[in-house]
Amino acid sequence: MRTVYVNGEYLPEDEAKISIFDRGFLMADGVYEVTSVLDGKLIDFDGHAVRLKRSLDELDMASPVSDEDLLAIHRDLVEKNGIVEGLVYLQITRGAPADRDFAFPDPDEVPSSIVLFTQNKPGLAASPAAQKGMKVISIEDIRWGRRDIKTVQLLYPSMGKMMAKKAGADDAWMIQDGHVTEGTSNNAYIVKGNKIITRPRSNDILHGITRAAVLRFAEEAQMEVEERLFTIDEAKEADEAFITSASTFVMPVVEIDGVALGDGVPGKVAPRLREIYLDESRKAAI
Ligand code: PDD
Repeated sequence: MRTVYVNGEYLPEDEAKISIFDRGFLMADGVYEVTSVLDGKLIDFDGHAVRLKRSLDELDMASPVSDEDLLAIHRDLVEKNGIVEGLVYLQITRGAPADRDFAFPDPDEVPSSIVLFTQNKPGLAASPAAQKGMKVISIEDIRWGRRDIKTVQLLYPSMGKMMAKKAGADDAWMIQDGHVTEGTSNNAYIVKGNKIITRPRSNDILHGITRAAVLRFAEEAQMEVEERLFTIDEAKEADEAFITSASTFVMPVVEIDGVALGDGVPGKVAPRLREIYLDESRKAAI
């Protein structure tokens, strides 16, 4: 059984409890981070900690732990659960007031809630899906306008995943005003020749930690990166496409809305970026 962390305590998962009045549960008033683990070490922890702080600040939410404690809890959980490859999930909500109320509670009276747990994923790096590539469909992006904040409001992304599943695909890319925003839980890219094209950062997408690292590695490897909007039709005519996230690293996309890209198998750029990303991330892991 997993050991999880809830509000200051390490507990077996079946003993961990959160109030029914917790605003995360009632209002989706919470933020989260997912950090990957390779070789028992945390990948890009600092990037996730910085983004967490930004999400909390944007929502005027207090952090219940210091940065040092946050790292210590991540490491403790990885060790207690013997995680070699997998993920650490972290969630902070605006706590549990005495009753349901739209107004925020006074943070001096109601502390934020914090929950962390691990997900064991042996074979995460050597994923067969990365060899095969994935299929995506396109759906309208009807999410709220602050997607740069990593909130736990994941109903529409979950619905998108189900729409993809129903269509025999693996994931959905979301479209706003004719342009691709991102995947349901990842950032989206297309490749034309040696050029990697991805949507620029704004309130319309989550500023992926994997995205930042991959774009840096791409430029270091003399690949050209163009941050601009692209349409789904342009994507269907691209040489390659891929996604990035903490849970998938770099994953090739081989089909969009039933249209095969290139030969319908992963090309050169995405697998190479995946390799570079995994190598460099392992070296820098803590
Ligand atoms: N999702 N865009 C969205 C909408 C996401 O939910 C995520 C991450 C990303 C990629 O961000 P990063 O590279 O920092 O993981 C982009 C996580 C993995 C999840 O919800 O499980």
